[in-house]
Amino acid sequence: MRSTIGIDSLALGVPRGHLDLRDLAAARGVPASKYLDGIGTHRMAIAAADEDPVTLAASAARRAFALSGLDPKEIGLCVVGTETAVDHSKPIAAFLHGLLGLPSACRIFETKHACFGGTAGLLNALDWIASGSARGRSALVVCADVARYAPGSPGEPTQGAGAVAMIVSERPRLIELDVGRSGAYARDVHDFWRPLHSKDAAVDGQLSVQCYLDALAGAYGEWRRDEPADAEPLARTCYHVPYGKMARKAHRRRRMIDGLDEASADATFAAEVASSLLLPAQIGNVYTGSLYVALASLLHAEARAIEGQRVGLFSYGSGCVAEFFAGRVAAGAGELVARLDLDAPVRASTRLTMAEYEAIRSADAGADRRAAPPSAALHLGASEQPVAFLGVDTADRRIYGLATPS
Ligand code: HMG
Repeated sequence: MRSTIGIDSLALGVPRGHLDLRDLAAARGVPASKYLDGIGTHRMAIAAADEDPVTLAASAARRAFALSGLDPKEIGLCVVGTETAVDHSKPIAAFLHGLLGLPSACRIFETKHACFGGTAGLLNALDWIASGSARGRSALVVCADVARYAPGSPGEPTQGAGAVAMIVSERPRLIELDVGRSGAYARDVHDFWRPLHSKDAAVDGQLSVQCYLDALAGAYGEWRRDEPADAEPLARTCYHVPYGKMARKAHRRRRMIDGLDEASADATFAAEVASSLLLPAQIGNVYTGSLYVALASLLHAEARAIEGQRVGLFSYGSGCVAEFFAGRVAAGAGELVARLDLDAPVRASTRLTMAEYEAIRSADAGADRRAAPPSAALHLGASEQPVAFLGVDTADRRIYGLATPS
């Protein structure tokens, strides 16, 4: 039997609260249509002071294990992609190792390249399994970020926060990925960056859009060169989604590379891309997780209908690097997706007022300096209660524990 490797389980973690972009538009004196249609985002998830990439990653990973029937003890590799790390040295993967109770015989690390960090982890996990290093074990790949731009800046409506956890294994039940077949592109540019002293990203917005499209053309061109002439076409394509309109622009560019004129390229959007943008429009940019929120959205909407069909995946990280690769939706994926209830965390999130959003943003700077309670527990326990960042101890160690029910 052909050996297949890919994503066996997937789950999201999002903050408790979100800002409705109609509220942001009213506060900033901008027509709501600019954010809803011009940017293509309806809500953005906002992380509170006790929510950070560690808590979001832990929530997503717990769901991925709990709902798919897999055991953390089967994990031999845990990679966390993030560009909003909580420590310059200790990786989020180490916090997760403790919180989830992963085995001690486990390779754990964090990867960074802007929004591409999660894809770097995923492709590494595929190679780890294909090389034989896994010896039957699975990999846990988590993408976790809190996307922040300065209040009032053009980037503000493109914030978001969340995590996507993926369990990668042989004979995956969701999507089989093509191993060793991707198109890459890299270039040294300053389209988006975040200085070490700042929690907010800096960006040259219009340049970043151009760099993304150039990277797409480069990576897709490379990938396409190795496609056999009679290859089965991609039924759907998921793009990195900093905001929905960007994916729409990307799809137009890609299909024009395929030889379609602009109108014909746009005509394929509804069938090939639209369903992958439903969840991103409710969460906003999750940086490393954005492509995989798009994949979750596609599977949530259509897994049963597209079982056995090919899906393209485009990952972009500012700075910049990009990769285009593809996979095939596994037979039976629809049934598992129904069990995974992928959008449940999004349904459970509550609408913040503008005042609550602004209070969270202004508390941000001090959030990492809060003192942890002296009796904070360091382990997760068996309960389904969410994990919270409790503060730092006297040596600046970050302490996590179970959230206190409100
Ligand atoms: P802006 O100044 O709001 O841009 O910044 P705009 O004035 O060009 O407006 C945006 C769109 O809204 C335009 O449509 C307008 O026509 C439309 P487009 O020409 O693009 O099709 N518009 C309206 N539509 C309906 N009704 C209206 C209306 N008014 C205007 N009334 C920008 C937009 C994205 C640049 C800004 O939000 C930004 O800087 N965001 C952050 C950077 C970003 O997301 N870049 C994306 C590519 S880079 C990337 O994806 C990597 C990243 O995820 C980071 C990483 O890798 O780590 C960011």
